[in-house]
Amino acid sequence: MGHWTVNQAGKSIVLIGMMGAGKSSVGRCLQRRTQFALLDTDEIVASKFGLSIPEIFSKYGEQVFREAETQALREMAHDKQTIIVTGGGIVLCEDNLDFLKRLGVVVWLDSKEETLFERVARSGNRPLLQRGNPREVFAQILQARLPLYAKVANIRVDTSVLTDEEIAVAILSKLGKLGRNWRPGSPIPSTAR
Ligand code: S3P
Repeated sequence: MGHWTVNQAGKSIVLIGMMGAGKSSVGRCLQRRTQFALLDTDEIVASKFGLSIPEIFSKYGEQVFREAETQALREMAHDKQTIIVTGGGIVLCEDNLDFLKRLGVVVWLDSKEETLFERVARSGNRPLLQRGNPREVFAQILQARLPLYAKVANIRVDTSVLTDEEIAVAILSKLGKLGRNWRPGSPIPSTAR
């Protein structure tokens, strides 16, 4: 895997992006290919409450979910290489942007708005889309978040026309070009973008 070697502190692969971007499935592909542990902020929060994400939203509200999400991120070890899958709203809290950057290389999985919405509409388990007109709400949420994803991401991958495996390969190939001296929080050399 090029210079993307194991046992380098703070070089986790952190997946961010909107609901429907494929973070969980790409995370599983990356996990299989790298053999790193896989951590998922939604799963950590759900297991802490012993409830599903929609149940947490309806019982305690979004704010409580967001605090638990930040806590999960804050507690992630910096000295282990992991694949980290995050919820689409992780970028809403300013502190999280720093936590994300310190954990490793931040990869933004992006796609066309229509594609993202179709995927999300099919699964029907996103509490934020249970009110108003889901298509309009989705568009508003996405517009508000795009600058935040762009701000924190080291690398952006357009997932519209790629399979999950292809996306994982593309990510690992970009990371291979980073070189062993790259440190989390540093800019990405143009050759690796
Ligand atoms: C959310 C995305 C969800 C989950 C929660 C809130 C969001 O995760 O964290 O429903 O605000 O975009 P996915 O991005 O995996 O759907």
